[in-house]
Amino acid sequence: MPKSVYYVTTPIYYVNDIPHIGNAYTTIVADVVARYHRLKGEKTFFLTGTDENATKVANAAAEAGVPTRQYVDKLAGDFQKVWASLAIEYDDFIRTTEDRHVRVVEAIFKRLLDQGDIFKGHYEGWYCIPCETFFSESELVDGKCPECGRAVEWVQEENYYFRLSAYANRLLAHIEAHPEFLQPEFRKNEVVNFIKQGLRDVSITRTNRGWGIPVPGDPSKVIYVWFDALINYISAVGYLYDEERFNSIWPADLQLMGKDIFVRFHCTFWPAMLMALGLDLPKVLFGHGWWSIDGEKISKSKGNAISPAKLAENLAAESGAKRDVCLDAVRYFMCREVTFGSDGDFSMASFRNRFNSDLANDLGNLLNRTLSMLSKYFGSKIPDSKGHSGMLRDIIVETATFAEAACDKLEFSRALESIWQMIAAGNKFVNDREPWTLAKQGRMDELAGVLYSALEVVRAAAIMISPFMPATSCEIARQLGVLNEFGSLKWTNVTDSKPFEPGIVISGPEPIFPRLGSTISAQHTTRENAREKKGAIEQMTERISYDYFSKMDLRIAEVKSAERVEGAEKLLKLMVNLGDEERQIVAGIAQWYEPECLVGRKIVMLTNLQPAKIRGVDSDGMLLAADVEGRAVVLFADEQVPAGAKVK
Ligand code: MSP
Repeated sequence: MPKSVYYVTTPIYYVNDIPHIGNAYTTIVADVVARYHRLKGEKTFFLTGTDENATKVANAAAEAGVPTRQYVDKLAGDFQKVWASLAIEYDDFIRTTEDRHVRVVEAIFKRLLDQGDIFKGHYEGWYCIPCETFFSESELVDGKCPECGRAVEWVQEENYYFRLSAYANRLLAHIEAHPEFLQPEFRKNEVVNFIKQGLRDVSITRTNRGWGIPVPGDPSKVIYVWFDALINYISAVGYLYDEERFNSIWPADLQLMGKDIFVRFHCTFWPAMLMALGLDLPKVLFGHGWWSIDGEKISKSKGNAISPAKLAENLAAESGAKRDVCLDAVRYFMCREVTFGSDGDFSMASFRNRFNSDLANDLGNLLNRTLSMLSKYFGSKIPDSKGHSGMLRDIIVETATFAEAACDKLEFSRALESIWQMIAAGNKFVNDREPWTLAKQGRMDELAGVLYSALEVVRAAAIMISPFMPATSCEIARQLGVLNEFGSLKWTNVTDSKPFEPGIVISGPEPIFPRLGSTISAQHTTRENAREKKGAIEQMTERISYDYFSKMDLRIAEVKSAERVEGAEKLLKLMVNLGDEERQIVAGIAQWYEPECLVGRKIVMLTNLQPAKIRGVDSDGMLLAADVEGRAVVLFADEQVPAGAKVK
């Protein structure tokens, strides 16, 4: 049976800790890749799992005072829960302590021993337990492990060796003949240099200390954890026990890993093992960069690790957005912020910035304003656009082509950038066509066409972002009234013409990404900063009595309608309901708020301010807004609070 499945893998994780945003990255990206290929209609197989036979895993269990087996069972379960909480949809989760894996490792060991690719010999050298690797004297840095900087031990052992040295030339030839094999391009040279330096045979057994896969026929030894772990990629898909399945899946199309385990293990040892077994090599091995936090290495001892789930929960609590959507924001950030392959730095400030600008201002705004205008002008009924729709068709088609090519090349950041350019074009189109003016002039067919076209852009974006932001995509589809058909849509549906049925009534907008109040996170406001701020506020403001304050009649008001003030770029005219009366106020917020997005929202209003005429328009009251570096952020009240309620 020929290969028919797109196969993507992550490294299998040591079960000595739970993922943080750094090591969850490989799996998040693999999930994006798998979802993307499913969206293209390809049969896809996404494998992840846990690496359980390492000495460091046994050490971690001993430290926790738990039998190793019990410890790995618990952590493998924890990993699966974490992945579920991060919306990771893998097809299989392999554990290296499972029978299906152990049997294949044993069989491979025997076979390579029989054919002479494994032989017995004596070895001594410097060994780093956390990295599970031998190093030569010259590789050490200040006598320490060159990978992690920790102390190494001198180990002398009678061991079994894998004849890695025999594969150097074949590896170099394969790399040369398959330019796409090792990615990104800039890491390829590192591999070539490493191989050209000369490959030594690798010791692939260790003294049996009670944990690991015993060497068949020599139980005083266990199989080296890297030899065992790499085999997961084939043991999970049927190698040596389900030939038909194996042939339909292997070779892997894409194997993802961080740069630390790229050169030596995945680009040298692993392909040489496959060559020894006479198997095809994976099509692409990709070594991505590492994430730091605020410029610092993520480390247990520094205690600076951030869990993606916690980050999403905190964001949900602060913004009021749904947790799943906040999780999508994390996924979006990680795929958008850095070129896949390079290192990245996470900071709350840049994360919040992307949330506010890309998600709330761009995507959220296009959805909200289009649906509010649809509600206002067409009673939320999809209008018959009488041939006027599809005004943004060219950019949709262009974006679909560009984003697809970028995703195929694993250039996720560029793919997202192009989708956001399309969203920006959608927002600009609405601004330029001024639907509010068309409505005033009674040009309803044109207005219908503008809104229909804007909806098409929102729909196209929702399909294309679905691999990155699955929950957000569903939420948009729900608000567009097309959720039922969304599950079966493919990438080619992005460019469908006339995707909405005229006459269908859809719901009003529900903001998906409420803006975050400030671009400075609590975590980043140092104590000094806070103290300085407090001092400044005290200096700035004269203290007043409660009586003085109580002279202000502050009330909750509901915005009934909102429109721009002609000839005044910064002003909006609002009609608001105060429970027992309606008032008109003028507010200088047009730069930051679309009028349609305010309708139905509850604001805080100073009602007993002297009336004034602003640019010739009567204003009887004032809404309250925070001044954030010159930008007005309107104070919205909870929907539950009735209009007219006093604020004190
Ligand atoms: N068990 C081995 C892999 C065996 S695969 C046959 C292993 N496990 S690990 O748990 O230490 O690492 C898993 C993945 O997390 C690796 O791809 C590693 O590069 C990645 N990362 C760990 N910290 C990271 C960051 N700070 N940033 C990005 N990726 C990071 O190695």
